[in-house]
Parts: sequence; structure tokens; C-alpha cells
Amino acid sequence: MKEAKLRHPVTRSEQMIAPLSRFRYGPAVHSQSIFPAYRPRRLRQSPALRRLVAETRLSVEQLVLPLFVCTGQKTRRPIAAMPGVFQLSIDELEREAQRTSELGVPAVLLFGLPATKNDRATGAYSRNGIVQQAVRRLKKAIPQLLVITDVCLCEYMSHGHCGLLEPGKKTGRVLNDPTLKLIAQTAASHAEAGADIVAPSDMMDGRVRAIRERLDQAGFTDVPIMSYAAKYASAYYGPFREAAQSAPHFGDRRSYQMDSANADEALREVALDIQEGADIVMVKPALAYLDIIHRVKSEFGYPTAAYAVSAEYSMIKAASANGWIDERAVTMESLLAMRRAGADILITYAAAEVARWLRET
Ligand code: PBG
Ligand code: ZN
Repeated sequence: MKEAKLRHPVTRSEQMIAPLSRFRYGPAVHSQSIFPAYRPRRLRQSPALRRLVAETRLSVEQLVLPLFVCTGQKTRRPIAAMPGVFQLSIDELEREAQRTSELGVPAVLLFGLPATKNDRATGAYSRNGIVQQAVRRLKKAIPQLLVITDVCLCEYMSHGHCGLLEPGKKTGRVLNDPTLKLIAQTAASHAEAGADIVAPSDMMDGRVRAIRERLDQAGFTDVPIMSYAAKYASAYYGPFREAAQSAPHFGDRRSYQMDSANADEALREVALDIQEGADIVMVKPALAYLDIIHRVKSEFGYPTAAYAVSAEYSMIKAASANGWIDERAVTMESLLAMRRAGADILITYAAAEVARWLRET
């Protein structure tokens, strides 16, 4: 059989570029859209041109600053592995939050360090717990600042796990269903104190549903849930455990947090949380899980948060303290990567510095 006659002779460059037309954003198969007519460098000539055609932007409205609140007064206890991060008593927390808000950062994420811990984590859900007090203070002093609360039990448990342990036995098994009640109670007590958003990080199955039901029963139908939907059992949480004094006293969190080998499972986790009532879904950590951020955003199109966790911050600080990297450039590039992957919200310990840098540009 004879080959079909082409109306125009196909040029060599058209042959080379033809496969690209399969891509949605590939250049059209046309001699005008390839070199020398098309020169990608044309749009890279000046900062103004580059900004004009930038596909992704960082802005202060996307940032959330995590803060650690402890008991006492006038306390600003530095975290060794996280330069610039402190455990703050409520008075100091208010000042820090005020400064952050003045820089344009719209939200903080609160973690509490209670004075005492026990095996039922009562400090997590008591009316006058450390986070509940801090929320009341912040909402009174800086009403426009969004206060998000981390909802978990590990900081309040004597053993440091995120849920209840099997009683009487030494198995160390973390119980799922009995933990849900305490998690829901914690979220409700945060809402009662005035939290704008509650963010469960415990990774128990069914917790979003338990929280939603409890919030609705208590009349907090308008308090959104930002769920740590795809939270991995990660070594990148190392410095945080010093900051929040929440390291498990035995074992690890691999029976409830996700295995870093899994990506499809993350989509199932996110689907479940959305079905149970999550309003915002989070992927954590961020930089080592950009594929997950990308898939979650493209699959569900929900407001998606990326949590640049403690070690992501510490590694940049340590390398730049040694003069090995440019702190500002690496921080901005990393956050931009999270945006490019699909994150709408960026939770980062560098939020205040980033807000300052964004003002300068
Ligand atoms: C506790 C919690 C952790 C982080 C946020 N909430 C630690 C953990 O799961 O062990 C990690 C945050 C960070 O590393 O910056 N449920
Ligand atoms: Zn926890």
C-alpha cells in the first residue's frame, strides 16, 4: 500500500517537535513556534519580564506561622535546633503574634506545652488548658489574626503517643476508637475558646467525622477543619519533638502515621477526610512529598496546605549558618516549589522572615 501524501513537506524541526504536541502545554506543531522563531530566553531578559510571566507566585496571604505556647510569664525559651523559634509564654506569644500579623501573615498554628502530662491527656481538652487560654488571649488582642489550633494528644500524654494506650497491658498499642472521643473533645474546647480553624494531626481513623459531629452538636457548625490528611511517619519531625516536648517515650508513630513508601494510600486518606468533612487538607512534610501535594491538588481540587516541617527549616538554617547556602534564596525556592506542586497554603517556621523578604521585592 502507498503512503498517504502529505500536503506540505515536513521540515526536520517539525519532525523533532511533533511528539511534544501530545502534551497539553506543548508548543504547537508549527515552524513559528520553534527555534529560531521561538526563543524561550526572550522572556528571561529582565526581572520585570520574568515577574510578568511567572506562573507561580509566593505571597504573604498564603503563609501560616506555627507557634509554641508554654506556661509561665516573660518566657522565651529558644529551641536549639530551630534558630529563631521559641517556646513562648502567653504574654510573649501575644507580642510575637502581633508582630507577625503586622507583617501581613494572616494565620498562626498553635501548639501547646502543658505544665503536667498524664495518660489521658486531660490538659488537651481542659477548659483552661494552655492552648485554650492562648486562643482566648490572641482572639481578644488581635481579632483579625486567624488562630488555627493543632489538635492532638501527644504533647499532653505522659507517654508521648498521639492516642490512648491499651490499658493494663504493656503492648504499647495505640487505640483508635477510644481516642476519637478525646480528640473531638479537644477540638470542641478549642472552638469554644475561639479558634478559627481546628487542625487534627493525630492520624487516628475516623477523627474528622468525630470532630465534625462534635463541633456541630456544640453549635460550631462554621468552624472549619484543616486535617493533616496525608501525614507521614517522618524523620523530618526531629527538631519539633524538642520544641513541643512530644517525643514518644517508647516505639514510634508508624502504626498511625503513613509509610513514606506510599502515594496511592495518601489519596485514599485525603478522600476519607474529605468525605468525613475536612474543609482544607494538608500534606506533611512538604519538600520530600511534592508528588503527594501535586496529586492531592489535581485529584481533589480542595484547598491544600503544605507543612514545611521542623527539619526542613533546621536544615536550611544549619547550612546557611555554615555559609554553604543562601538562606533566603533556598527558603523562597523551596516554598515556590510547594506552590508549583499545588499547595495553596504554606505552613512554615520562616513565615515572618518570608513576609519581610516579600516586602523587599
Ligand atoms: C504532633 C505533631 C508533630 C508535628 C506536628 N504535629 C510531630 C509528630 O507527629 O511527631 C510535626 C511538626 C514539625 O516537625 O514541624 N502530632
Ligand atoms: Zn500527636
